[in-house]
Amino acid sequence: MKKHDLISMHDLTVDDIQIYLNTAARVEEIPLKDRFTLLQGKIMASLFFEASTRTRLSFEAAMYRLGGNVIGFAEQAATSISKGESFSDTIHTVENYADVIVIRHPKEGTSRHAAQISYLPVINAGDGTNQHPTQTLLDLYTIVKSFKKIEGLRIAFVGDLKYSRTVHSLLQALIKFRVNEFMLVSPDSLCLPEYLKRIETDFPVTFVETRHLEDAIPYADIIYMTRIQRERFPDQIEYEKVKDSYCLNAKMLKVAQNTLKILHPLPRVNEIAPDVDETPHAEYFQQVKNGLIMRQAILLYVFEVQL
Ligand code: CP
Repeated sequence: MKKHDLISMHDLTVDDIQIYLNTAARVEEIPLKDRFTLLQGKIMASLFFEASTRTRLSFEAAMYRLGGNVIGFAEQAATSISKGESFSDTIHTVENYADVIVIRHPKEGTSRHAAQISYLPVINAGDGTNQHPTQTLLDLYTIVKSFKKIEGLRIAFVGDLKYSRTVHSLLQALIKFRVNEFMLVSPDSLCLPEYLKRIETDFPVTFVETRHLEDAIPYADIIYMTRIQRERFPDQIEYEKVKDSYCLNAKMLKVAQNTLKILHPLPRVNEIAPDVDETPHAEYFQQVKNGLIMRQAILLYVFEVQL
């Protein structure tokens, strides 16, 4: 991988992650008007082969906020791939027009492939069920802002633990920060893949598995809710069986610790009731805000702008 590629949390050390967290904190300290020229003349290619609201728009807004420009597309149908052009020809074409590539693709490994064939820095904005490292960085930033620490927190992941790239990325990162106890709440058919339970560490990591969201509420410092992702199921009948497995509402939170934070990468469907939004536990809209900050930090790192 090239120095400025951001493909997987697996590739990053704690020190690498800390650079992104520190840069995001610096971004917040600098008035908007003083950020506006930092990436003047730079162009970001925003290549979204899969639907997105937050990731695409926050990356594009981040680039504009820093004085840069954006080209790209929001669906494959709008590209010459739909006429039969290869993925590698597309990447080599875009190289002529931009200074950094941000790519989301439904197929696992596509961002890494793009990084391997391109001389430009490549940022993975989500590759299938595999990784979503920029979401993880903004999740970590949100956690640090709330708790002033990562190690020692008790985190419950809820929902689609099988297909959720945000869970897979974040779990890997949390273990790097020596988080050693997780609760995994999912239907039988959506359990966390085994390889993620076997990450090599020099300390024991405990996974408590349950089917019941109620078990997580008094236990956790952080409940990380996820959507049951219809688009990942090969068989829609299987999706119908589990789509309503969890719905967190404000009444259920009466047994929570006062300091509990509920995170969700969004979009949500029905897994968090709107009445939770009004509780002090809801942190998911803060994640959205932090996403814009973190994506500015990521772009500044790519272009080696010191703050
Ligand atoms: N969290 C996230 O990736 O949201 P989008 O799919 O809207 O980009």
